[in-house]
Amino acid sequence: MTVATEQPSTATVDGTRRVRHALVDRLFHWTSAAAVLVLLATALLPILGIEFAWVTIHWVTGLVLMALVIAHVLRAVFWQDLRSMWIGIGDIRDGVAALRSALQQSADMVRIAGKYSLAQKAIHHAFTVVVLTAIGTGLMMLVKIDTPWWERDPYWVSDGVWGVVYVLHDLTSLCLVTMIILHVYFAFRPEKIHLLRSMILGWITRGEYDRYYDRSRWPARSDNRGFDEPSSEHE
Ligand code: HEM
Ligand code: HEM
Repeated sequence: MTVATEQPSTATVDGTRRVRHALVDRLFHWTSAAAVLVLLATALLPILGIEFAWVTIHWVTGLVLMALVIAHVLRAVFWQDLRSMWIGIGDIRDGVAALRSALQQSADMVRIAGKYSLAQKAIHHAFTVVVLTAIGTGLMMLVKIDTPWWERDPYWVSDGVWGVVYVLHDLTSLCLVTMIILHVYFAFRPEKIHLLRSMILGWITRGEYDRYYDRSRWPARSDNRGFDEPSSEHE
């Protein structure tokens, strides 16, 4: 039996598995997901009539989420491959081709994806815009409450600016509810279940790599022997 060790996401564990998400990235995903769900629950449950002291839990969790996102961005810039999440002209072409094929308007072959599909990159960027807006407006709203560091100052900006800040902050919660429902629905689709496993255990099988990914667009590390041979795995 081979023991899996943590390696960068571009590495293989052995001849039969490929690391998709390193432990640190999986921890980031699940802790930031938990933080977002706590933020939504503390914001929305009181509106539904479930009263509790939600404000402190809400802003402290918001700061935790901000720290997690800063750590993720540093890791993405210095240790990961920014290009794996970049939407290029090729991705747009692939997206149009996949749509035309799904609508049976074209019989052309659809190019298989790199590490992330166009849809995944789009939802990542949508989460980025919405989460950063929630954090930015949330930080401004912190000025309006008493914290261990300062006393509230409701007159920091004009009423008009506060109005915009509140509308944006509320809008992010609406967007997040919709986006999370979509995201979780796709995570549990049978044909995507290997991605859910990879976000829990870290890896996909050699057969899944061969079937779903273009190895030139998501290359395996060249120092892993055995992985570049044709797969003998039939699932
Ligand atoms: C400007 C901000 C951001 C940048 C530059 C960025 C960059 C990236 C990159 C390059 C990847 C691909 C890593 C890889 O698989 O090789 C990634 C993955 C990911 N991002 Fe972001 N991201 C940003 C903001 C966010 C935000 C706000 C969230 C959600 C709270 C988020 C959640 C994730 C998750 C869950 C993954 C998959 C886990 C992983 O393998 O890293 N990202 N991001
Ligand atoms: C709680 C239930 C959730 C489940 C079951 C789930 C599942 C997944 C899975 C399976 C992936 C991996 C896709 C891959 O390997 O390519 C993923 C990626 C990602 N998740 Fe989640 N997730 C959840 C919650 C969240 C929340 C609350 C957020 C954001 C606030 C989030 C943001 C992301 C992002 C940005 C990525 C990277 C883009 C992508 O691969 O789709 N997730 N998630």
